[in-house]
Amino acid sequence: MNLLEVLRNRFQSVLQKKVEDPCRYIAMVLPAQNAQFGDYQANCAMPLSKVLGKPPREVAADLIAEVDVSDLCEPPEIAGPGFINLKLKTDLLEQEFAEVFTSERLSVEPVKSPEKIVIDYSSPNVAKPMHVGHLRSTVIGDALYKILSFLGHDLTSDNHIGDWGTQFGMILYGYRNFVDQEAYEKEPVAELSRLYRLVNKLSEYHTTVETLPGLEWKLSETEQAVNAAEAEFEQDDKQGKKQLKKLRSDLESIRQSVTKAESLIAEIEQDEIYGPLAAAHPNIHTDARLETSKLHAGDAENRKLWDEFLPACLDVMNVIYNRLHIKFDYSLGESFYQPQLADVVEELKAKGLAEESQGAMCVFLPDFKAPFIVQKQDGAFTYATTDLATIRYRVEKLEATSILYVVDARQGEHFQMLFGTARRWGYENLNLQHVSFGTVMGQDGKPFKTRSGDTVGLGDLLDEAISRALAIITTNDEAKPNGPELDEAERKQIAEIVGLGGIKYADLHHNRESDYIFDWDKMLSMTGDTATYMQYAYARVCGIFRKADVEREDIRQRDDVPIRLAHEAERALGLQLLRFSEALSATAQDLKPNLLTNYLFETANAFSTFYDRCPVVKENDEAVRMSRLKLCDVTARTLKQGLNLLGIETSERM
Ligand code: ARG
Repeated sequence: MNLLEVLRNRFQSVLQKKVEDPCRYIAMVLPAQNAQFGDYQANCAMPLSKVLGKPPREVAADLIAEVDVSDLCEPPEIAGPGFINLKLKTDLLEQEFAEVFTSERLSVEPVKSPEKIVIDYSSPNVAKPMHVGHLRSTVIGDALYKILSFLGHDLTSDNHIGDWGTQFGMILYGYRNFVDQEAYEKEPVAELSRLYRLVNKLSEYHTTVETLPGLEWKLSETEQAVNAAEAEFEQDDKQGKKQLKKLRSDLESIRQSVTKAESLIAEIEQDEIYGPLAAAHPNIHTDARLETSKLHAGDAENRKLWDEFLPACLDVMNVIYNRLHIKFDYSLGESFYQPQLADVVEELKAKGLAEESQGAMCVFLPDFKAPFIVQKQDGAFTYATTDLATIRYRVEKLEATSILYVVDARQGEHFQMLFGTARRWGYENLNLQHVSFGTVMGQDGKPFKTRSGDTVGLGDLLDEAISRALAIITTNDEAKPNGPELDEAERKQIAEIVGLGGIKYADLHHNRESDYIFDWDKMLSMTGDTATYMQYAYARVCGIFRKADVEREDIRQRDDVPIRLAHEAERALGLQLLRFSEALSATAQDLKPNLLTNYLFETANAFSTFYDRCPVVKENDEAVRMSRLKLCDVTARTLKQGLNLLGIETSERM
């Protein structure tokens, strides 16, 4: 049973008689912040008092009189200005706990109306460095996939691989002009990555050389404008002051762009390798684009190379996915949709949605200045066109009622425009959601980069996590009071679980919308809000059973010993364990895995308090000992299930 939901339903039946839209008041029935205020609190009397024109305490008293929770709670109490404190009856908790104990699903009921959800995550661009942002998408997406499936929704994961973009033109150009054949044969993807970076750099050089004069001209214009404004400026002219401030800040940012451009140009020109290459390939930028167009137009040579490059690139990506134990139901890359794009544009035109503007086909949306371009002047279709075709496919072929996109926050505008267009196109009943997330930052405050900045780099990152975890586990094992307990193979196996768990948890436990700083020490710390801490808590519970010499399977057969939540710490842990389904619902509601990590962290803490205060193995009273072992068992199952839903494994020994 989801206790919060049950309580909210009880309040709903009273509140809907009092106000027209009770939702916001119902949402104010919440878990208590502090155990001294009971288990749950209803904080709606204060805002209701304004609507009903009665003092809040009086409103609270009326609510208490009307709401029927006598089967669930002790008599509710009013505190302070009008808070209603709700304390669940301990025998109810014991009864509910007995149910959780025997339930395979830990009493998490499947949702009543399951949805058919397509979830788009990971979606790296092949041959271009896969970066930690794609890792974050992968980890968050995989967790949401597992959580929503567990809750009974019908999930389909689809890795929308970028396998058709402009990077291929760069690689094709690079391959024709700069390939190191030996390196390519040995490690094709590493070589393709190098080529991509090389061509990208040289192109950037030439574009910068082209744009610099314009920038310099803008700089001098703005300088003059600032001088003129300064000469005219009068102290008490508020408008003028504002204008001057704006001009000065424009000037500063243009100056910065000029400096940046100049240093990029100097860097390349002074470089022994890049300098001569840049000079020898003056049209690289347009030529690389041409290669992309040729590929898209069906050029046989380019297509042949693409067919050769792609499988190698996918293999390298799959190595990472396998290491992370991540699988996709579909991996329909951008190339898959190419044959459908012309038709999408035709449909949009026929509906009067797309119109020509400066030679391009555009969708204009009321809330956006820029158009959503579905076909460029040169006839090329775009990322946007592909995403529209993808929506149509997901609805028609995959029967999606809901599509979730786990993609970097920086693509927010693209998705708003995509969703806006899709709605007008006829998908108004489809639930489209951008599950956006922030940037992973380095210690230096800049976006975090793996050492070599490519796919191989991501592999290195996983290796480093595992080797750091191994060091921690070894030290910890060697410091055990009765000597080490693990052999080398076990340590390695655990290091894998802890290292990968640490990386995943770091991505998950920060609110996904925030940026966060990548920090090895924090990530693998044995204390605090980390996977390691939870994995240790799990192993500790398993250790209790070993010490008590009791099989967990056996204890599950002991229906003769009732659960008792007599001690304050037992009750707190029991209640916490009962709230698993509440935590999962909240996580699914907001699509925020950090709500689940918070819950698991609190659970591990509640267990720790319980274990400090209530003897288990040493408890003499057989019934109490058994009841406590049952608490331990559910703790372990909840931690394990919760971590598994986040894609994190556990080990019985650490
Ligand atoms: N390949 C894109 C990138 O790396 C992400 C794709 C996200 N999914 C989508 N349907 N647009 O930026």
